[in-house]
Amino acid sequence: MTRFSPVWHPMTQHKTAGDALHVERAEGAILHVRKGDVEGQTRPIIDGVSSWWVNTHGHCHPKIVKAVQEQAAKLEQVIFAGFTHDPAEKLTRKLISTVRTEFRRCEGSALEFAFYSDSGSTSIEIALKMAIGYFAEKGEKRHRIIALDGGYHGDTFGTMSTGSRGVFNEQFEPFLFDVKHMPFPRKGIEGKVLSYFNRYLKKYGSEVAAFVFEPLVQGAAGMRIYSPAVLKKMASMCREHGILLIADEVMTGFGRTGSMFACSKAGFKPDLLCLSKGITGGFLPMGATLATREIYKAFYKDTKAEQFFHSTSFTANPMACAAAVASLEIWEDEPVLENIQRVCESHRRAAGWFSARPDVAEVRVKGSIFAVEVEDDNGGYLSDMAQPLYDFMLDNGVLLRPIGNIAYILPPYCIKEEELEKIYETLWRGLDMVRDRGKKKASEDDGRAANEHRRYQNVA
Ligand SMILES: Cc1ncc(COP(=O)(O)O)c(C=O)c1O
Repeated sequence: MTRFSPVWHPMTQHKTAGDALHVERAEGAILHVRKGDVEGQTRPIIDGVSSWWVNTHGHCHPKIVKAVQEQAAKLEQVIFAGFTHDPAEKLTRKLISTVRTEFRRCEGSALEFAFYSDSGSTSIEIALKMAIGYFAEKGEKRHRIIALDGGYHGDTFGTMSTGSRGVFNEQFEPFLFDVKHMPFPRKGIEGKVLSYFNRYLKKYGSEVAAFVFEPLVQGAAGMRIYSPAVLKKMASMCREHGILLIADEVMTGFGRTGSMFACSKAGFKPDLLCLSKGITGGFLPMGATLATREIYKAFYKDTKAEQFFHSTSFTANPMACAAAVASLEIWEDEPVLENIQRVCESHRRAAGWFSARPDVAEVRVKGSIFAVEVEDDNGGYLSDMAQPLYDFMLDNGVLLRPIGNIAYILPPYCIKEEELEKIYETLWRGLDMVRDRGKKKASEDDGRAANEHRRYQNVA
């Protein structure tokens, strides 16, 4: 029997969830999880979701371990207002040069300044505040924000407001500010969405401060993919109306979709680029909001009242910066893009098998992301296939966390071929289990209905 734990876990229904698995250590794509409650006895679990999409180079990459250890012994944390340090200076230069290279063929202004925080949500909150503040500083009244239906940008009030409304934030709805959610431009309806977008901007464009979007893939919506061409068109319509573009690359950034950043595939530079998760290789919490010179300059004034008002205590934490520098060096020294390409090719092969299943509605692959949408009349986040599939996968040594009726794989790029094969094979069996369970339930329901009918006839 396990001990009661007073720890309150995220996105967890404690009344129905089992005990949290106790992880003792990890390396590469493997988590070593305690067997029973015995310290030191573990079983391996393949981390098929990069520990909530953060881990890029594998757990405990020796280069990042070393960088963090060395930094911890030198300077662990310091106030970042009025002070700076080597890891922050080095990271900023590296980040800006990485972004410059990646976006070299894209239209738009260079991203030249980085503002640090501690999560994906804060990187978006800061971008929203920068966009709103930018227009306020310029004396332009722009009070509207637009976003995409299905988007997820975090769980603070500002980011919940920009995110799609639904089960995630229903309770807080009265406290969320108004955001215009544009229909998601899924394949086949792009033209309709663009004309709707255009009509809206013709009417309200001059009142809109920013367009916030997850480029190419909406993660929490179930790895929904849309085309770079439609994103490019939306971006250029926004530009015509002077609207700032906020790219939320918290999930897509650092290689997830096959290139360093997803936005570059759409051929434009956003005005504000939000990064987190993979920025430190998934090692330590960090958020970064990159901005153009024009946005920076809007707050570059003579009075304190016109500065950018935002701070987080751990802004540019030196250990997080050191981890991020080490992670970017890994990108330079190791074949990271080739690994992503290898993962993508395996996903494509697996997509062929999975899409032949009659119980699969769609298979989606983008870079290192693989998603299977299962046919389910009660789909959506609360679909009742998610929990049994999650349990089945864990029992068989794989961590996947389905989003409702969508099972996805988003592994660290260093994952080995045999580990990927094990994930596909286990997922295949997991889907068989879900299907058989559904059939059993349907026949039990039929049996119950027949009994009811018989009972009714007897009474009648
Ligand atoms: C696209 C996107 N934006 C923002 C966030 C919020 O990031 P965090 O959980 O670090 O606050 C997430 C988290 O999953 C995300 O996927």
